[in-house]
Amino acid sequence: MKVVVAPGDGIGPEVIAPAVDVLKIFHPEWDYKQVHLGYECWKRTGDPLSPATRTTLKEADLILFGAITTPPDPEYHSVVLTIRKELDLYANLRPVVGKNFDILIVRENTEGLYSGIEWQEKDRACTLRLVTESGSRRIARFASSCARRRRRHLTIGNKANIMKSDAFFLQICLEEAEKAGVSVDKKYIDALVLDVLQHPDRYDVIVTTNIFGDILSDAAAFLEGGLGMLPSANIGKGHALFEPVHGSAPDIAGKGVANPIAAIRCISLLLKYVQERDQAKLVEAAIQKVMAAGVKTPDIGGKAGTKEVAEEVIKEIIRMRSVLQVDL
Ligand code: NAD
Ligand code: IPM
Ligand code: MN
Repeated sequence: MKVVVAPGDGIGPEVIAPAVDVLKIFHPEWDYKQVHLGYECWKRTGDPLSPATRTTLKEADLILFGAITTPPDPEYHSVVLTIRKELDLYANLRPVVGKNFDILIVRENTEGLYSGIEWQEKDRACTLRLVTESGSRRIARFASSCARRRRRHLTIGNKANIMKSDAFFLQICLEEAEKAGVSVDKKYIDALVLDVLQHPDRYDVIVTTNIFGDILSDAAAFLEGGLGMLPSANIGKGHALFEPVHGSAPDIAGKGVANPIAAIRCISLLLKYVQERDQAKLVEAAIQKVMAAGVKTPDIGGKAGTKEVAEEVIKEIIRMRSVLQVDL
């Protein structure tokens, strides 16, 4: 397997290093390559995503991405969005899991308000919210098939009362859910965000358009203690990129306190993606154990640093693996 690691900016490199260490416990034999991209790379070279890096990413079987800083500069185009579009990573999966809930947010990842079709005039600016039949159908199918393999329930987050583009999206999702034989309900996104926080146990798979999924997932991170906890998988045909839901957190970068759990959980998603379900579960179990022992970073109420948390998780994985091997 070709694994390309893109640490990025801010806390990206701090949290990706331990995630790579975790992956290497399971797969030291894989071919690992590192690429530089993002804001620091732009400042150094004038290009945030070089043609050579694009080629390396396209050739990768698996990509592990830290986070990057996107300056609000009209000339600067988001590297994350460019990669999602170029590799056609159309499904952004964001699991939110706790004691009495297990939600999978399936976010459409290539169109909607992130269509990139936008322009500025003298006295106004416009961004086109593009919702296509093919784009909606493939994400609706993806989400329905996830639901079929889980608790067979799909919630469609939408604003169909206000936007034609969402009425269109909703209709296609309803059709695909019916074909897949999963039960379905629809909720306006504003009410949905609150209800997910109040009654997370009522949800299984939630499918929604691009920016609604972005906002919903950051809000839902609250259920797990904060942004430092949530991983994500960006899936397309033949490409897969794993990244924490959080960004480059410039306010804490370089302080050694970034929570590495979201990044380490990305390894669990990656292992699931390559069908190594037991290994994926083992990573999750090790994280649970370390959290229960109170070894946590300050964002989730602890006193430990990034390195300490990561070392404990790694120790626990190695311990659990050796117990498993003895049991076999
Ligand atoms: P952010 O996720 O970087 O940070 C929001 C808050 O959460 C901050 O207070 C931060 O300290 C905290 N936080 C985030 N991750 C944490 C972690 N692992 N441990 C502890 N605390 C953590 O979002 P932001 O501040 O809105 O954005 C900062 C930059 O990151 C921006 O340039 C933005 O464009 C970029 N961004 C990039 C990605 C990505 O690369 N995928 C995602 C989101 C934001
Ligand atoms: C995310 C981020 C990105 C998004 C940004 C960095 C483009 O917030 O992955 O959630 O809006 O999708
Ligand atoms: Mn986001």
